[in-house]
Amino acid sequence: MILSAKPYVEQKIKELKERVSMMDETPTLAIIQVEGDPASDRYVTNKMKKCAEVGIAVEHYYFGKNVDSFLIEEKISDLNADDDITGILLQLPLPPQLDEHYLTNLIKPNKDVDGFTELNMGRLALGVYGNEPCTPKGVMELLRFYNIPVQGKDVLIINRSNIVGKPLAMMMTKQNATVTLAHSKTARLRDKIARADIIVTGVGQAGFLDERDVKNGAVIIDISINFNEEGKMCGDLDKECYDLLAGRCDFTPVPGGVGQTTVMALIDNLIEISERF
Ligand code: GUN
Repeated sequence: MILSAKPYVEQKIKELKERVSMMDETPTLAIIQVEGDPASDRYVTNKMKKCAEVGIAVEHYYFGKNVDSFLIEEKISDLNADDDITGILLQLPLPPQLDEHYLTNLIKPNKDVDGFTELNMGRLALGVYGNEPCTPKGVMELLRFYNIPVQGKDVLIINRSNIVGKPLAMMMTKQNATVTLAHSKTARLRDKIARADIIVTGVGQAGFLDERDVKNGAVIIDISINFNEEGKMCGDLDKECYDLLAGRCDFTPVPGGVGQTTVMALIDNLIEISERF
């Protein structure tokens, strides 16, 4: 079966709109973006569109690609102090003159809508309450929506990024999955793929996975956004095998899968911050 995000998103948007309508003040998201990454342009446009749909205000600060770190630091500091700002998002990646870890960590943890600061990542590692990174949170929500339990399952995550792989491993572990965090140096990766109950693939290579790689009943969560030779968006899972695979596995499509759930998780985090304070 294809785990389309569409029915989940329709339901979630209704819920988010309702929560916003019950608030005295409109939550406001500040997005800081630095020129230079075309994928970020697309992600940010989508985030802004969905925020507007739900009734959330967005302030978009767009800096040229040669911007000095000091200007970003100053902007984060102003937004931290501004009571009208509910959450702050520093869109990644940043150009090489900017230190992503240092700058992200300047965001006040209570306004860290991405959950990327040391404090929120630490809270996640400890399994206590904090803002959670959006892509992994969206993955967990989509699995829940489709009633796919993770408890006791062998979960293979092929991605060890701070944004997705590492936090997702912690969330899955908290929900009693047995997690293998794989990467480019992992030995016998194909054997591990063939044995896994749930495979989360974030390799960034079109056609990395196909119908022959996985066992019957496996669940494949495709978090990659690639572009094939014709310039069409695709994930790691070969689109040509969707029909064959649909009869014996569950998998998320690209587009129409995890990307959509990430934005829902972002808005959910923002509203939660607003409700808390
Ligand atoms: N770049 C790719 N995904 C993300 C995300 O979820 N948050 C931020 N801040 N940057 C990203």
